[in-house]
Amino acid sequence: MAKKDYIDLKTAIPGPKGLEWYARDRAAISPSYVRPYVLVADHAEGLEVVDVDGNTYLDFTAGVAVNSTGHRHPEVIKVIKDQADKLVHMSGTDFFYPIQIVLAEKIQEIAPGPTEKLVWYGNSGAEAVEAGLKLARWHSKRPLALAFFGGFHGRTYGAVTLSGSKAKHREGFSPMLQGVVHVPYAYCYRCPLGLTPEMCDFRCIGMIEEVMERIAPPSDIAVMVTESIQGEGGYVVPPAGYFQKLRQLTEERGILLMLDEVQSGMGRTGKMFAIEHWDTEPDIMAIAKGVASGLPLGIMVAKKTVMDWKQGAHGSTFGGNPLSCAAALKTIELIQNGMMKNAAVQGEYIMKHLRQMQKRHPLMGDVRGMGLMIGIEFVKDAKKTKAKDESTQLVLEAFKRGLLLLPCGENSVRLCPSLSVTQDQCDVMLDIWEESLAAVEKQMNS
Ligand SMILES: Cc1ncc(COP(=O)(O)O)c(C=O)c1O
Repeated sequence: MAKKDYIDLKTAIPGPKGLEWYARDRAAISPSYVRPYVLVADHAEGLEVVDVDGNTYLDFTAGVAVNSTGHRHPEVIKVIKDQADKLVHMSGTDFFYPIQIVLAEKIQEIAPGPTEKLVWYGNSGAEAVEAGLKLARWHSKRPLALAFFGGFHGRTYGAVTLSGSKAKHREGFSPMLQGVVHVPYAYCYRCPLGLTPEMCDFRCIGMIEEVMERIAPPSDIAVMVTESIQGEGGYVVPPAGYFQKLRQLTEERGILLMLDEVQSGMGRTGKMFAIEHWDTEPDIMAIAKGVASGLPLGIMVAKKTVMDWKQGAHGSTFGGNPLSCAAALKTIELIQNGMMKNAAVQGEYIMKHLRQMQKRHPLMGDVRGMGLMIGIEFVKDAKKTKAKDESTQLVLEAFKRGLLLLPCGENSVRLCPSLSVTQDQCDVMLDIWEESLAAVEKQMNS
């Protein structure tokens, strides 16, 4: 098959109706949202999104890693409809309903590690992170939290305080939550210590120990919070052995380890949760985005011994909504029955081809990722000068050609398609990628 099977552009991009909606949006909706280009979606199926002008695009964003099973997977839509015919809302904080319990049992089954777990429900990634942070303070009775440069955990006050990816998320909002100390992450392509993984002996973890010696006494630290693979920060993958070391460091000091798997979880990396690549069991974990194929759901899962807060301590009116729980159960089933394996296979295929392309295009400074969580960092030269404009331009060139991409970090582009992506769709994406890259290179040289 070819490009024309997935992409059909009938008008100028964006089209006239898209521009009308854009004008209405600007007059009615908060200016704080980040839209890199004007895509006004009308309907979608699988990896194909049709805009209000009837143009069809190939979606390698999955609605920011949310449509894990593809847009409107028929089996997911069916269980949502069936659930809507039975019960839409009851509030799990105040009443019981079976689908919420069945999903919690499933989460207990798939959460990494052998220790017994309990589940808390919210509606978003930020809420799941907030809940984990509150639980860590409650359980440990300690005030501080460690978080990482480059991390992103959401927009509510606790979550944004834990984040360390972009100052604009904080600008004008201080004071932040008290007691959060940031430490360097294992961003090996731009090692904060100027070392290489072969000879560094995890010196960045040594720096965390130094922070504990000088600034944040370990006996005051409730929790260390980190993404397994940084998302918004640029799809940054730590080296082998990294999380085992962090686990040891935290365990030895009685500090809880909370993993944010909001973007990296739900089969995206070829395992149900990315942390499984490091064979590490967290004490607390946040799940959202891809868990319910597009319906809002945030889940905080923690060791039973840790989730010891008392009745009334924390809840959510809408959290664990019946429709979202039904969608999540079906999503997990689809992920387990083939999609997770497909994520590993297609991810490897994309990486192989991108790495070949990297040899022809020095702009592609780093190609990294696991499964279908792939980031490409753009650089201007051998000194790795950040090519911010070029990475932004690449996303726009791809859009003009009918391929939906999103940036991440300062100068990277992410590929996070639905886990149902086919090799054929990967080939179309790769063709458009190289074509778009050539257009960016031409502009650079002109
Ligand atoms: C790793 C991570 N954590 C938390 C969040 C926040 O999730 P939400 O936007 O659902 O609150 C995001 C969102 O991008 C994320 O990528």
